[in-house]
Amino acid sequence: AERSPKPEPGDRLAFMLGERAQQEIKPADIEIGKEPTLAYPLDVASGKALISRVSLLVVTRLKPEDLLPSSKPNAADGIVAFSAICTHYGCPVTTLHPSQSQLVCNCHGSVFNAADRGAVTAGPATRRLSMLPLVIRDGVLEVAGRLDGPIGPPT
Ligand code: FES
Repeated sequence: AERSPKPEPGDRLAFMLGERAQQEIKPADIEIGKEPTLAYPLDVASGKALISRVSLLVVTRLKPEDLLPSSKPNAADGIVAFSAICTHYGCPVTTLHPSQSQLVCNCHGSVFNAADRGAVTAGPATRRLSMLPLVIRDGVLEVAGRLDGPIGPPT
């Protein structure tokens, strides 16, 4: 049986875009203040990126002092990951807010607080982004749990 494309504990992360597309993301690739990185889960057994809408993630690194208690347990050395599917109409959430701790959907301007478990700070979205727990083990960025809520807009 094929596994679900949704991220699972033990997966790594792979770039969606760029010259390293579908290759593993290392912790040092994710820098504070840089545009967020779009990613897919990377299945370790098959070495394959799990490419699907439900598995698309947005990854960014926060300043340690910005992390709130709601996000902190899911962060790995400041790196946080969320479902990238906007909960308004489902565009990918791709842009760093000037605060450097929030994520912006460019379709209609919803803002999600990466430091506060994806909470909505500006609409039209009304539901937070689901967060994916991460951990760094032996220098490797790894998925530590499952997305902690629904993906995309309410149906
Ligand atoms: Fe993201 Fe509308 S789809 S704000």
